[in-house]
Amino acid sequence: MKLSAAFVLVALLGLAQAVPVTVSEISEKSSQGLRLVQLAEDAQPVWKTEDEVLQFIREEVNFFDITDTWAQEQDLPQMKMAAIAYPTPSHQSAVSPLIVKLSTTNMSSWLSSLTAYNNRYYRASTGQAASVWIQNTLRSIATSAGRSDITITPFSHTFLQTSTIVRFPGAGSDNAITILGAHMDSINSSNPMNGRAPGADDNASGTVNLMDVFRVLAQGGFKPSSPLELHFYGGEEAGLLGSNDIAINYKSTGKAVKAVLNLDMSAYSRPGSTAVIGIMPDFTDASLSTFLTQVVTTYSKLPAVKNSPCGYACSDHASWYRQGFPASHSSEGQFPNGINGALHTISDTTSLSGFSVSHALEMSKVALGFAYELTV
Ligand code: BES
Ligand code: ZN
Repeated sequence: MKLSAAFVLVALLGLAQAVPVTVSEISEKSSQGLRLVQLAEDAQPVWKTEDEVLQFIREEVNFFDITDTWAQEQDLPQMKMAAIAYPTPSHQSAVSPLIVKLSTTNMSSWLSSLTAYNNRYYRASTGQAASVWIQNTLRSIATSAGRSDITITPFSHTFLQTSTIVRFPGAGSDNAITILGAHMDSINSSNPMNGRAPGADDNASGTVNLMDVFRVLAQGGFKPSSPLELHFYGGEEAGLLGSNDIAINYKSTGKAVKAVLNLDMSAYSRPGSTAVIGIMPDFTDASLSTFLTQVVTTYSKLPAVKNSPCGYACSDHASWYRQGFPASHSSEGQFPNGINGALHTISDTTSLSGFSVSHALEMSKVALGFAYELTV
């Protein structure tokens, strides 16, 4: 193609992409099975077939699927929340007795239950059964701890799998919410609907981190002065669906968010390498990430290292960042080399060499310290 012709074509494509997506177009195209996806921060969303979306997942191309949220998002103000000054961790004497109650026994048992589902895919009945199992397990912990003040609420989406929001109400006047989040879905990228996807590391590990932090705080009588929420997201593997829906809901209802810590992949430490916790540098809040680094150093025995950038739409922290909320993410090792390569396959099991519940326990300590320091 001649350069001038190529130039005209590029210019035309640019124009075509700049045309805003209308609400009627969304209902028409989505009823034809097309998905509206965003592949970069400043890019216009584009329509893709379900096969093309699946190809993105297989090639590990990150994206937001915004088919069902784009119209709502257009009505939101574009503002960022005011910068928050985070404290230096200072509650060691109160946090340490809680941290010693965190337990690999509980985490291992819950990992067995979660990985026993054929998969936890967001459209599969087993994906929804896993979500209900999480809700029931948390409810029974709250009930036996006599904690009727804690609410455990399913959050429904346009797809089968529900997310779950657990809330410890704040006793004081500060209503800015601290959120610990983890996605509970899994995927076998060669056969999403029916393939075996134990998702032990990605992300039953982050799920059981939150469950055990919940158990220890609920049983320990923890009543924060500002609200603490634990989120279990559905549909992350299909384009950050659950977290994006919830972040848009919080923005549109005017909720104040103090901090988000996303836990995604916490149980793998590459054999032969030094165990570390990786801190995600991109699509996260810099001062919150500094605080998270201090929390890792204060409450876990592992050093914190800075990850290489994971890129746009890498995991659920990106959904909060997208709405201007302060978000952070810590991972099992330094991204990319220290991360479990078996993700999205049948081999993401608890018996994979390098999978370690003791390693994951360090992330539970980080999550508990983070929550306590920001809400007490
Ligand atoms: N668990 C990964 C994300 C991740 C990356 C965790 C690096 C820890 C370190 C996540 O579940 C995932 O697979 N994300 C997709 C993108 C998603 C929008 C489809 C990916 O990275 O390909
Ligand atoms: Zn994941």
